[in-house]
Amino acid sequence: MSEEAYVICALSDIPSQKARGFHLGIVNEKGEPESFPLVVVRWGKNVFGYRNKCPHHGVHLDWESGSFLDDSGQRLLCGKHGSLFEIGTGRCSSGPCKGEHLEKVRLEVIDGDICVLGLTLIEDENA
Ligand code: FES
Repeated sequence: MSEEAYVICALSDIPSQKARGFHLGIVNEKGEPESFPLVVVRWGKNVFGYRNKCPHHGVHLDWESGSFLDDSGQRLLCGKHGSLFEIGTGRCSSGPCKGEHLEKVRLEVIDGDICVLGLTLIEDENA
């Protein structure tokens, strides 16, 4: 059975070495709708996706909305207590949840679009 890929945005919508947040609506394993915050980091042609949820207290990383990277631009930052995460692995390298990981989300670039795999998105929202 082929896996469904859902387009999130165009690769060109995120400048290289920048991160952007998304709020997805997904169907969870119980078949119920659930909101799923996602952060996508683009690095050249590569993209990395994580659930936007700090392993420390479960809050969004962008304490200041849309601000995901530290001053060096090399690591993801949780704005609440300053944990830093490696962009390529999601591993916390410093801060109160050192050694823990962000939840990885599978992404792939298909025909110039960033697509998410492994999640079922709600496509017909009447919001
Ligand atoms: S909630 Fe993220 S470091 Fe504490």
